[in-house]
Amino acid sequence: MPLNHDKKSETSPNLSAASQTLTTRQGHPVTDNQNIRTVGSRGPSTLENYHYLEKITHFDRERIPERVVHARGAGAHGIFEAYGKAGDEPIAKYTRAKLLQQPGKQTPVFVRFSTVIHGTHSPETLRDPRGFAVKFYTEDGNWDMVGNNLKIFFIRDPLKFPDMIHAFKPDPITNVQDMQRFFDFVSLSPEATHMITFLFSPWGIPANYRQMQGSGVNTYKWVNEAGEAVLVKYHWEPLKQGIKNLLQPEANEIQAVNFNHATLDLYQAIEQGDYPEWELCVQIMSDDEHPELDFDPLDPTKLWPTDQFPFLPVGKMTLNRNPEDYFTEVEQAAFGTGVLVDGLDFSDDKLLQGRTFSYSDTQRHRVGTNYLQLPINAPKTHVATNQSGGQMQYRPDRAPGQNPHVNYEPSSMGGLQEAPKRGKDHEPYYEAKLVRQKIDRTCDFKQAGETYRSFEDWERDELINNLVDALSMCKSDIRERMIRHFTEADADYGRRVAEGLTRADQIKIESGQTDPEQAVKKAQQKGHEAE
Ligand code: HEM
Repeated sequence: MPLNHDKKSETSPNLSAASQTLTTRQGHPVTDNQNIRTVGSRGPSTLENYHYLEKITHFDRERIPERVVHARGAGAHGIFEAYGKAGDEPIAKYTRAKLLQQPGKQTPVFVRFSTVIHGTHSPETLRDPRGFAVKFYTEDGNWDMVGNNLKIFFIRDPLKFPDMIHAFKPDPITNVQDMQRFFDFVSLSPEATHMITFLFSPWGIPANYRQMQGSGVNTYKWVNEAGEAVLVKYHWEPLKQGIKNLLQPEANEIQAVNFNHATLDLYQAIEQGDYPEWELCVQIMSDDEHPELDFDPLDPTKLWPTDQFPFLPVGKMTLNRNPEDYFTEVEQAAFGTGVLVDGLDFSDDKLLQGRTFSYSDTQRHRVGTNYLQLPINAPKTHVATNQSGGQMQYRPDRAPGQNPHVNYEPSSMGGLQEAPKRGKDHEPYYEAKLVRQKIDRTCDFKQAGETYRSFEDWERDELINNLVDALSMCKSDIRERMIRHFTEADADYGRRVAEGLTRADQIKIESGQTDPEQAVKKAQQKGHEAE
């Protein structure tokens, strides 16, 4: 379907001539937008070309830094409707979060879907997790749920995140992604085996943004009126549109003709009134260490088995409105895991705690100090703070009737005051040594094996093919470490990857292609000779 570029003229008839007049941002009517001011028609130009300088310097700054990860994205507005229950139980048993209490209660949302590794105009067909970030504009302020399509993650300690992203992003010299760098890191991070098993299966390329699941991945807490907490994981399940993934050859075919297919698919579905819907489900565990499990409930590389911790539906989201302007809404949107409302809380999941610092820090750099005053990020409820100043402050966050001289608290002269408490505080108790240590129950391979065995035959075939393709570009010690990890997960898994690599090497040698191992050795030898 062609995009409708005439929409504005259809919906905004009878604009008066004055309202169409081109001006500068200072409100000066522009009488000539074709010629700069010059000494004679052939120049030179002069430095007081105010209109030109304003125009070109703004143009020079048209891009803000792209997101350091998840740079390519598409967004849409919608509505979240609460069920008032978690499965059969009243939701108030677990959380006092207002947006979830009343059946049918509606909260506006903005969602941004994304790919992770490559830049802002990279293809949307790549094997990569997809971001699934939802901003709920609740009556208690914003709640951001910053998730991915897959339910687990590569690592569990945030200290490893910058290294992981460096290894996955393009090489610093060639500017090309390199599977040898990718698997070098992964093979030395055994906790990534489970995520790699999903990523190289057909689940690694969702067909588009509408037909994919979402997950909060990290473990959060819910807190009820009495201050009691439970551990919670969030999941988005597509409703009428279903789930669809692509095999590698299908993705290649789409990419050859259209590298924006997912953005277009979302935009066009919403324009046509075919609104995508997801059900929000939660898994709940009591708030303790669960020694009976062979994994730690705070470990984001693990799934919570659904037979023990079933999906409980708590609400439904419908996306029904496209952004009016990509940059204003999608590019400048800022989501973060620290953005929670009363009744929702953090768990001790280390990755979650590391993420929570990173998001608002990068947004102060990427969008600016006052990013929360932009309409897409500002809550649709009362905001009154004593934070003021900084680049691009749009207005003071003052309350009506507030004494404008008092930008501090406490004060006896009419300043802002603390809100009354709601419900009892959740006050977890801690007593432990301050350490740098892994969690005890790492159990890095068991669930990877279970996931491998849970796949259908065609999914396993695709997984092995994709891994063999990628690993055949890696040197032998990386391959060996990966085969060891796959074998630990499942003997058949390791054997098939090993056999596939031997076959791939033979085919390469027979067809006269360069053996990657030999190429690497040659390069290393050259390096030694140079020394
Ligand atoms: C974006 C950091 C793990 C999902 C980002 C951004 C940063 C970041 C700096 C760019 C934000 C911006 O410019 O607005 C981290 C760190 C992580 C981590 C430090 C681990 C220590 C994860 C995980 C998930 C995730 C586990 C999935 C659950 C996302 C999504 C976005 C994002 C969806 C894009 C949000 C948007 O659409 O604007 N992350 N991340 N990240 N991250 Fe993470």
